[in-house]
Amino acid sequence: MRNRRAALTAIAASASLALALTACGQNSEGGSKEGAGDTEGATIGIAMPTKSSERWIADGENVKKNLESKGYKTRLVYGEDDPDQQVSQIENLITQGVKGLIVAAIDNKSLANVLRQAKEADIPVVSYDRLILGSPDVDYYASFDNEKVGELQGTYILDKLGLKDGGEKGPFNIELFAGSNDDNNTKYFFQGAMNVLKPYIDKKQLVVKSGQTQLNQVTTLRWDGGTAQKRMDDLLTSAYRSDRVDAVLSPYDGISIGILSALKSDGYGTKAKPLPVVTGQDAEVASVKSIVAGEQTQTVYKDTRKLAEVAANMVDAVLKGEKPEVNDTKTYDNGSKVVPSYLLDPVSVDKTNYRQVLVDSGYYTEADLK
Ligand code: GAL
Repeated sequence: MRNRRAALTAIAASASLALALTACGQNSEGGSKEGAGDTEGATIGIAMPTKSSERWIADGENVKKNLESKGYKTRLVYGEDDPDQQVSQIENLITQGVKGLIVAAIDNKSLANVLRQAKEADIPVVSYDRLILGSPDVDYYASFDNEKVGELQGTYILDKLGLKDGGEKGPFNIELFAGSNDDNNTKYFFQGAMNVLKPYIDKKQLVVKSGQTQLNQVTTLRWDGGTAQKRMDDLLTSAYRSDRVDAVLSPYDGISIGILSALKSDGYGTKAKPLPVVTGQDAEVASVKSIVAGEQTQTVYKDTRKLAEVAANMVDAVLKGEKPEVNDTKTYDNGSKVVPSYLLDPVSVDKTNYRQVLVDSGYYTEADLK
């Protein structure tokens, strides 16, 4: 990597100046403002996108815990889904003298300038779950196999509709939803799902009655459940007056809950008009409860405890002058470089295996899901 020792000496003066300038500045969580040069007990900045989704709250807590168990102090900030706010939060973390940054971006394209400032201060940056684009200053990427997430969702739909058994089954009606268009993961999730679903759409065993099959027609800004609910309402009104929808590809639990609200308002969820297959992602409590209650059909579980550990290990290794463990050096090109990545494995969860996957692993207790 870079020559840390020389760089650290060079920035020591500017870092202490910055610290002096902000001595009475923001007082978020974490400890004292240490001088540059030592990584022992250093503070790591953690920038998360939003508290409006429970997964990011768990991610933040898990990253914090992991770093603190290694002797670091932490400053954890949430950008409330506002890209500008996230940029200024990261600027503040840099000025406050953090020695490393772990960032889950809100808008993947908005961080190049602030990461340049991090680079100038020799602060290593780990892109957390969502790849930061257009910046050479992202050192590592910790995530899941994002294309596989989509494949698991698509495959689940085929299985549930009985299409995997071959034959001439169908046609079944399906509608497609994707995530936020400013999140790099969105295209991987959608691509993964379409790899599996498109052959059946081409054979007309799956029919998208709205005709909306292109990614740019089906995205959901900021992954917002209300936005998805509104789109599902519109789809039901415009394309499903006399037909039923049999499956909905949803990329994320918050979106699934919005879709289910629209479906239920339209009379779905009875014996005569059962709910369609609805996928999801993140195994958020509300969605697991919905799965147990027989509403949402599936989710994709991503163990945020493991992701947090990978990200914390990456920062720790870089600060110790070691090479972090990676398992993918080809897939994640951010437009400026291919970012060395560690990708974890996502797991499909439904009513049949939620106990085994989520409760037996200690991710949730039975009581959490009551
Ligand atoms: C994505 C993430 C998903 C989901 C979504 C909405 O970037 O990979 O797991 O959390 O954001 O928050």
